[in-house]
Amino acid sequence: MINNNPIGLFDSGIGGTSIWSAIHELLPNEDTIYLADSKNAPYGQKSKEEIIELSIKNTEFLLDQDCKIIVVACNTATTNAIKELRAKYDIPFIGIEPAIKPAAIHSQKHVIGILATQGTLNSELFHQTAEKFQDTKIIEQIGHGLVPLIENGALYSPEMDKLLHAYLEPMIAANIDYLVLGCSHYPYLIPQIKKILPKDIKIIDSGEAVARQTKNVLQEKVGLHSENHLAKTVFYTNSNPKVLSEILENKYPVTVKDF
Ligand code: SIN
Repeated sequence: MINNNPIGLFDSGIGGTSIWSAIHELLPNEDTIYLADSKNAPYGQKSKEEIIELSIKNTEFLLDQDCKIIVVACNTATTNAIKELRAKYDIPFIGIEPAIKPAAIHSQKHVIGILATQGTLNSELFHQTAEKFQDTKIIEQIGHGLVPLIENGALYSPEMDKLLHAYLEPMIAANIDYLVLGCSHYPYLIPQIKKILPKDIKIIDSGEAVARQTKNVLQEKVGLHSENHLAKTVFYTNSNPKVLSEILENKYPVTVKDF
C-alpha cells in the first residue's frame, strides 16, 4: 500500500528528535514533519488537562499539513493524552512508553531504575505497565530540572552533572542492572550518564521500538511512501531555533512558527 503523505511527530521540545532519528533511519523514504513545542516545555510538571490541550493543538497543526500518522514523540504527552487523541481523531497515533518491559524481562537482579518526568511517573498508563512486573523492583526517579537544561542547550554543564549524580547514585546503591530512560529528551544525556553508571548497568530507551511500531502500522494500516524518493524533513519550533538546530548538527533548516 502506497501513501506519500508525511509522518508527523510532536514533542514538548527538542527531545523527540531522538525518536525522529530512529524513524528516519528505519524509514529513509518517508517525509517527516517535526513539531517542537519548546515555548511550552517542559510538559512534565503540567496538569493532565493542560497536556491534553497542548497535544490537541500540536495534532491539529500536523493534521493541517496532511500527516498520515502522528508519532507522539514525548513520554509525558503519551502517558497523559494519547487515549484522548485516539478517541478524538481517526488517524493512527504511535506513542512512546518507557521501556519497562524489556528491562524487566532481561534484568538478572530484578531491580531496574527509571528516570522520567513527574507527569509520566504519576500517570495511570505508567502504573498499569509497572504493575505487570510484580517480581521486579522498580526504582522511580523524577528527573526534575533535566528537560529545561536540555532545552537551553546545557547538556554538558556542571548543573547537569550535579543533577545526574543526585538522581543516579541512589539507583546504583539500590543495585539496579537496567536504567530505563522514560523521557525522549534523555537519550541526549547518555554520554554523561555512562560516565556515572558502572559499566555493567545497561541503559534502555524507546527510540528503536517506536520506529519499528511506526513501520508496522504504516505497512498494515496506512501505507508507506513509494520508493526511490529523497525524503523531505521539515522542523518547526515556536521558540528559539538555535538549540534545535544544534541538536540536529545544523544539517536541517528549522522554521520558527508561532503555533
Ligand atoms: C517534558 O516536557 O517535561 C519532557 C517530555 C517527555 O516526557 O518526553
